[in-house]
Amino acid sequence: MAFYSETVTLFLLFTLITVLLKFLSSLRKKISYKFPPGPTPLPLIGNLHILDLKRPDSTFMKLAKTYGSFFTIHFGRKKVVVLVGYDALKEALVNSSYEFGNRGALPVVDNFQHGEGVIFSNGENWKVTRRFTLSILRDLGMGKRPIEGKIIEETEHLNNLIQSFEGKPFEKRVFTNAPPNITFGLLFGRRFEYSNPTFMTMLDLLNDLVILTTTTPAQFTNVYPILKHVLKTPKIIVQKIDQLNVIYKELLMEAKSNTNESSWTTYTEAFLQKDMEEKVGDGNEKIFHEKNMLASMFDLMLGGTETTSSTLQWAILLMMKYPDIQKKVHEEIETVIGLERHPTWDDQKYLPYCLAVVHEIQRFGNILPSFPHSTLVDTHFRGYFIPKGTQVIPLFASALYDETQWETPYRFNPNHFLDADGKFLKKDAFFPFSKGRRVCVGESLARMELFLFFTGMLQKFTFSPPPGVDKADLDLTPDPFFTFRPKPYKVCATPRQ
Ligand code: HEM
Repeated sequence: MAFYSETVTLFLLFTLITVLLKFLSSLRKKISYKFPPGPTPLPLIGNLHILDLKRPDSTFMKLAKTYGSFFTIHFGRKKVVVLVGYDALKEALVNSSYEFGNRGALPVVDNFQHGEGVIFSNGENWKVTRRFTLSILRDLGMGKRPIEGKIIEETEHLNNLIQSFEGKPFEKRVFTNAPPNITFGLLFGRRFEYSNPTFMTMLDLLNDLVILTTTTPAQFTNVYPILKHVLKTPKIIVQKIDQLNVIYKELLMEAKSNTNESSWTTYTEAFLQKDMEEKVGDGNEKIFHEKNMLASMFDLMLGGTETTSSTLQWAILLMMKYPDIQKKVHEEIETVIGLERHPTWDDQKYLPYCLAVVHEIQRFGNILPSFPHSTLVDTHFRGYFIPKGTQVIPLFASALYDETQWETPYRFNPNHFLDADGKFLKKDAFFPFSKGRRVCVGESLARMELFLFFTGMLQKFTFSPPPGVDKADLDLTPDPFFTFRPKPYKVCATPRQ
C-alpha cells in the first residue's frame, strides 16, 4: 500500500514539475520576444481607430514618420509588424527571405481558398504547388516566344475594339479585355471573343470579387474572423467563387473532350495529369486534387488578369495626362519600328524610352501597395525578436515612393529609369512584383504583356481626354480595391496614319 501511494506521489510530483517547467519556458519565451514600437492599442480594437481602412498604406506611411521603418500595429488584439521603405523591405524580403516568407492570414480569402493554391497557401502545399505552377507556365512558354505570339495576336483584337469606337469616347473597362485572354489561354487553351457571354460573366465575377474582398465588412472579417458567420459579404463572396468554379469545370470538360488524353497542352490538363499520377504514402497528404486545382486556377486568374488590366488602365490615363510623354513614345516607336510591323519583345532593347515609361507606369500606378506575409520561424530583425506566425505587412508602395531612391517620387517621371545617355536603367527599388521567396510567379509574363500591349496600342493610336475634359482634370488618385485602379474615366483614341 505504502509502495503504491509513494508511486502515485512521485508520479504527481513529476507531472507537476513538467507542467511547471513548460509553463516557465513558455513564459521565458514570451518575455524574450521584443516587438518594435508602435501606437498604443485600445482594448479589443487595437489601433483600428487610427487606421484608414480604405487606404491603410497611407496610415502606415504616416506612422513610419513617428515609429520608423519597422513598427507594430494592432489589428484588434492581433500584433502585426509593418516594413516601410526600400532598405527595410530589402533586408526582410531579400536578406531574410526564409524568415519572412510565409503568407499572412486573410480570413475572408481563407474562407474560400482553404489554404490551397499558390497565393494564399503555406508549407508543403505551397512549395509543391508553386514549383509545379512555375515549371508548367515556363513549359507553356511564359515570358518566351509562344506566349509572345499570343499577346501580339490579342493586341490586334484589342486594337480592333478600340478602332470600333471611331474616335468617340469609351470607358477604361475596354482595356481589361485583353489580359484575361492570355491567362485563359494558359488555363483552357483558347481565347474568347470579348462579347462571349461566358467571358463577360467570368470578368464580372472577378470584378465583383476584387471589390467585395475590400469592402468594410470584409476588412472587419479579416480582423475578427468570427464575423464570417454573421455578415453577408463573406457568404456572397463564397457564392461568387462557387459560380466561377462551375464555369471553370464546364470549360474544363469542353477542353478535355477536344484533346488527346495522353498529352497536356494547358495548365489545367497538366494539373489533372499530376493528380492521376500522384502517389501518396507514409502519412503524406495528396497535393494535386480538385480543390487545389480550382484554387490555383483562381490564383492565376486573379494574379494574372486584375493586376495587368489595372496597369493598362493606368498606362492610358497617364498618357492622356502627359501628352508630351505620349508624343515621345510615339516618336520612338515610329522611328524604330514604324507603324506597320508589330512591336516584339526583342524590341525592348531598342525602345529604351518606351521601356522606361512602362516601368514608371508600374511604379507610379502602385497597383498592389502591400500583400500580407508572416514569419515562418521566430525571427530576429533590427534588434527586435518576433515570434513565428506574426503577421507582416511589407509595404511595397513605400519602396516605389521612397524619397531616398527616386528623384521625384510623387511625380510621374520616366527619367527615373533612364541614364544620362537615354539608356534604360534598372532600379533596385522597383518593387511592384515584390522580391524573395514569395516573388510574383507571373513576373516575366506580366512584363511581356505590359510592354507588348502598351507599345502595340500606342503604335496605332493617340489617346486623349474626351472633348470638354481638360488634362488637368484627370484624377490620378486611385480607387483602392484589391488592386489600386484608376478612378472611372473615358478616353478617345485617334488612329495614327
Ligand atoms: C502587373 C502585373 C502583376 C503585378 C504587379 C503582380 C504583383 C504581385 C505581387 C506584389 C505579389 C505578392 C508577392 C508577395 O507576397 O511578396 C504577387 C504574387 C503572385 N502573383 Fe503576381 N503580379 C502581376 C501579374 C501576375 C501574373 C500575370 C500572374 C500569373 C500568370 C501572377 C501570379 C502570381 C502568383 C501565383 C502569386 C503568388 C506567389 C506566392 O505567393 O508564392 N501575377 N504578384
